[in-house]
Amino acid sequence: MEFSYYNPTRLIFGEGTFSQLGELTAPLGRHAMLVTGRYAMERSGYLQKAQDLLEQAGMQVTVFNKIPPNPTLDVIVEGGRTAKEAGCDVLVGLGGGSAMDSAKNIAVAATHGSMLEFLLPNQAGKKRPPTEATLPIVAVTSTAGTSSELTPFAVVTVPDSREKTSLTGDTLYARVAIDDPELTYSMPPEVTAGTGVDVICHAVEGYISRVGNPITDQWALRAIELVAAHLPGAVADGSNQQARRGMMLANVFAGYVLSQTGTNIMHGVGHPISGRCPEVPHGAALATVLVAWAEMIWERAPEQFATIARIFGVDESDDKVAASQTAAALKAFLNRVNMDVTLRDLGVPEDMLDVIADDGQRYMHHAIAKTPGEVTREHLMQLLQASY
Ligand SMILES: [Fe+2]
Repeated sequence: MEFSYYNPTRLIFGEGTFSQLGELTAPLGRHAMLVTGRYAMERSGYLQKAQDLLEQAGMQVTVFNKIPPNPTLDVIVEGGRTAKEAGCDVLVGLGGGSAMDSAKNIAVAATHGSMLEFLLPNQAGKKRPPTEATLPIVAVTSTAGTSSELTPFAVVTVPDSREKTSLTGDTLYARVAIDDPELTYSMPPEVTAGTGVDVICHAVEGYISRVGNPITDQWALRAIELVAAHLPGAVADGSNQQARRGMMLANVFAGYVLSQTGTNIMHGVGHPISGRCPEVPHGAALATVLVAWAEMIWERAPEQFATIARIFGVDESDDKVAASQTAAALKAFLNRVNMDVTLRDLGVPEDMLDVIADDGQRYMHHAIAKTPGEVTREHLMQLLQASY
């Protein structure tokens, strides 16, 4: 057996740790660009608090609060130009995956030329990682979550081709990640549920991945257990501190999986769904395919699926029988958190399924190839049609 593990991010976890933002960021630069979405962090007061903490630590702050859900490259280019003109030398991403990923993307855009050469594969099918010129990044997550604060990926959509792709490389790891469950207390139930489904998908994809290892297997299982135990409580009552803490821990464990294994077939179609239909949130896109995914491939990894099924309540001693019940168990769980949705429910046009399958093959093939067993275009279509 041989495997490697690398994750250089300093993780600060716990209620109230947000207050350390200034002292943790100040050693990394003098002028921070604070990158966030348009509404949530301002409404919750955390944008102002973040600015105050950075200024109290002696830093200059430029606020860039223009990040929409499923951001496109144009807002990144604008952010890069603003950061360069203002002389920002450290990026702080505050919010969900879109805000944190955009901070990472802007850390590259401010110091590199065209972003496309890093976002799209070259003729040899390889993407270039950004260079050491990438500005240092601090990531503060307000969801539990995309785990962007712990991964070397930064997702963005290329507007012309509608490709929801990502930068990938070690310089995209945040220097510091702050995972303070208190920031999630004001997250609405539907966002709590959607981002929680993202955690499940990172964990189960990593658990069955061809490139998993004993470390990621342990973390994946712990993440799945924590989501099964705490997501319904966090959705039902956002002020449930134990549930919020459990979900933030799940987000951490799944992030450590994701950072090593990447994703596979569910994200392989999930990103193209939101790339083509930007109004579909990432977690909802994944929720549409989760049940059909389990139905389609449980036989390829029956032992792992049996374990997943039992975590979600299947009481069967025979592995194969338990594994065959994974899809039903996941469907029941999605129902409990109001995420048992179809692509049709989300307004994805049926004639778009072919385009989504083509997109998956064109620019998510590296992720899809980590699925156990062969995945053809027919498999992608089968998955999408069963999720419609
Ligand atoms: Fe994800």
